[in-house]
Formats: sequence, C-alpha cells, structure tokens
Amino acid sequence: MEKTTQLYEGKAKKVFATNDPQYVIVSYKDDATAFNGEKKGTIVGKGAINNQMSNMLMQMLEKHGVPTHFVEQLSERETVVKKVTIVPLEVIVRNISAGSFAKRYGVKEGIVFDQPTFEFSYKNDDLGDPLLNTSHALALKLATAEEIDTIRTMALKVNDLLKDYFAKLNVTLVDFKLEFGRLADGTIVLADEISPDTCRFWDSTTGEKLDKDRFRRDMGGVEEAYQEMMRRLTGEGK
Ligand code: TMP
Repeated sequence: MEKTTQLYEGKAKKVFATNDPQYVIVSYKDDATAFNGEKKGTIVGKGAINNQMSNMLMQMLEKHGVPTHFVEQLSERETVVKKVTIVPLEVIVRNISAGSFAKRYGVKEGIVFDQPTFEFSYKNDDLGDPLLNTSHALALKLATAEEIDTIRTMALKVNDLLKDYFAKLNVTLVDFKLEFGRLADGTIVLADEISPDTCRFWDSTTGEKLDKDRFRRDMGGVEEAYQEMMRRLTGEGK
C-alpha cells in the first residue's frame, strides 16, 4: 500500500490517502498536547510505542469479536487502517475516579466504582470537547440512537477485555477514551488509538502512573512510563 496525499494532521497523528479508497495510512507523531492544545511538548519515541501498542490491542479486541479499523502495520510508526468517518463523540469509560471526573464532582482520585461509568464528550476542539449526554448527541445529530446503543455496548465490552488484559500485566485500567467510525456501508468500528495517550494506567502494586498524566502534570519520567507499558505488553526486558 502506497501513501499518496496527506488528508489530515491532528495533534498526535497524520492521515494519508492511499491508492485504495477503502484504506488510509496513519502516521503517529511524538508530539504531545494537553488541555486542548494549550500545553505542547514532545515525548520521544511515543509515536512508535502508541502505534505498536494500539495495533496489538486492536488485534486482541478483534479476536474477541470487536470490529476495529486495524488492517496492517507498515512500520514502527505507520499503519494501514480502514477509512472511516469519525463519529464526533469521545467515548469515555471509567473504572476508578481520576482526572476530570474527580475534579468535576469534587472527589479524590482512586475511588473504585462498583460499575464502570460511561460518558460522551462532543469532539470539537473549538468548544473544548464539552461533556454531553445521549439526548444532546441525538439533538445535535452526532449519531443515531441505534449507533449510540452499538457504541455503548462495544465500549463496555472493550472495557471488560482491556481490564482483564492489563490486569495480567499488573496494570490497573483506570479510564480511557475511545473513538468510533463509520465504514462506507455505515458499520460502526472502533477507530483512533488505544495507548498511554488515551488511557490511564496505574501500576497495580505501587499505584505509579504509567500514562500521559505524567506529561499533563509535569511529573517527569514520561518516556520511561511509555517504555515500561510497552515492555509489559511485549513481555520484553523482564
Ligand atoms: P479526563 O479524566 O481528563 O476526562 O480523561 C478521561 C480519559 O480520557 C483519560 O484516560 C484520558 C483520556 N483523554 C483523551 O484521550 N483525550 C483527551 O483529550 C482527554 C481530555 C482525555
């Protein structure tokens, strides 16, 4: 598969057209942003780690019946994926209080929920990705009621699969953000990425943060955290 023209450049990835209209190539960057692009930096090696980690996880999810955009990894940073129209919803599942949940509701981080929470943000940088509920998403025609049902069922299944998968690596999956896309025939598939940029990972023994919060909160050890997650996933260096 050949890259042709660049279609889009986002905060963490570029997307290229290919000679086949069904497929695009994503290229992962080391650029990191937080707080809707207000904070900018570089996490050396992040692009290669997020690409490979996301591909491993998407393949695991496919094996368990979750349809994804993944097609084929081309190189350390580049992957062929199915071309989709992204549903403009950031789909967030939480198992433990942290981040904006802890802040919004005035609770400490680390409260383990009896059941996962499920929420949407409107994927719109100009508005700062505001939180919205299902009736808001329907009013704004961001997705149909049927699509929202599908997305909710898939996101909760992804949570069950990822929670178990990471638990075996002594990693607690605190929360994460997913994005879904529509194929040309309307089928909903999991898209975007699953990585330390889009998940909160805590070491299950020490509670140490192994994700992008280290960058967001200027904690240091950012590259090391991404590398540590990659080591646990690939089973290398043990
Ligand atoms: P939050 O607690 O800041 O709402 O984040 C919830 C989860 O979503 C967390 O795992 C990080 C991820 N996330 C993104 O992937 N992109 C974003 O722009 C934000 C704000 C959070």
